[in-house]
Amino acid sequence: MTTILDIPTFGSPAAPTGNALATLDAQSISAWFGTHKVLDRVSLTMEAGQVTALIGPSGCGKSTFLRILNRMHELVPSAALAGEVHLDGHDIYDSSRRLTDARKEIGMVFQKPNPFPAMSIYDNVVAGLKLTGTRISRSDKDELVEVSLTKAGLWKEVRDRLRHPGGGLSGGQQQRLCIARSLSVRPRVLLMDEPCSALDPTSTRVIEETMLELAHEVTIVIVTHNMQQAQRVSQNCAFFLAAQGTPGGIVEHGPTDLMFSDPIDSRTADYVNGRFG
Ligand SMILES: Nc1ncnc2c1ncn2[C@@H]1O[C@H](COP(=O)(O)OP(=O)(O)OP(=O)(O)O)[C@@H](O)[C@H]1O
Ligand SMILES: [Mg+2]
Repeated sequence: MTTILDIPTFGSPAAPTGNALATLDAQSISAWFGTHKVLDRVSLTMEAGQVTALIGPSGCGKSTFLRILNRMHELVPSAALAGEVHLDGHDIYDSSRRLTDARKEIGMVFQKPNPFPAMSIYDNVVAGLKLTGTRISRSDKDELVEVSLTKAGLWKEVRDRLRHPGGGLSGGQQQRLCIARSLSVRPRVLLMDEPCSALDPTSTRVIEETMLELAHEVTIVIVTHNMQQAQRVSQNCAFFLAAQGTPGGIVEHGPTDLMFSDPIDSRTADYVNGRFG
């Protein structure tokens, strides 16, 4: 059933959960800020263990859609939404489920790296555990830090300075630290909103390699304006568009290689070939 939800303003990050691969299924998602409707009945299945890229011009609702996928949209006081989001068949907006459950299972990495700058690299990685009051032993914590940093492709660069502040790392390293922080709570899905747009090409390449590795164990959804990046990292792709004065929607979605080589809609062809946006 489709419901319009009143949006409370609260939230907290994630804690450890099971980590079996999971499909994320958005069904008929509409979104508003106040009376301004910004998404209209968007449906998309983000396959387990694959990378799905969301592409489209600025303002068409990609970030809003991403934020709905882990219940961050409701942090905005005027925000409302309709539709359903299912993780492995369970509605993350079901009234019996807590907001924090969604955050536990569905992590988010933002455009601008946002580590706690004065906090050590080690403490940054386990910050999510602390914030959710999850207690683990010191040795388990050490292992979790190493595993999370290794998965984020950062371990070798920081293993000798885990007690140094996170703010002392380069931008690319900070972004990988944020990825490690997200991974430390063992999410089943990782949402990434233009994670490389503030980074140099070398750091971008390292993060892309990290994503390809991670996709074996975490379902990834990435928003990107970089068409080459979408082709390098994703297996599936969705093209969002908002015509002047109308809410955003998906024009076309499917396997990334087909979206780029043989799109069905002429607007997709124009966008992926750089003719607008
Ligand atoms: N907090 C907010 N309050 C009011 N309107 C908002 C808010 N956030 C986004 N919007 C509006 O919602 C629409 C979609 O914005 P959104 O940020 O989702 O687009 P986007 O596709 O991610 O764009 P970009 O590629 O520039 O990041 C825009 O019209 C935007 O102005
Ligand atoms: Mg955005």
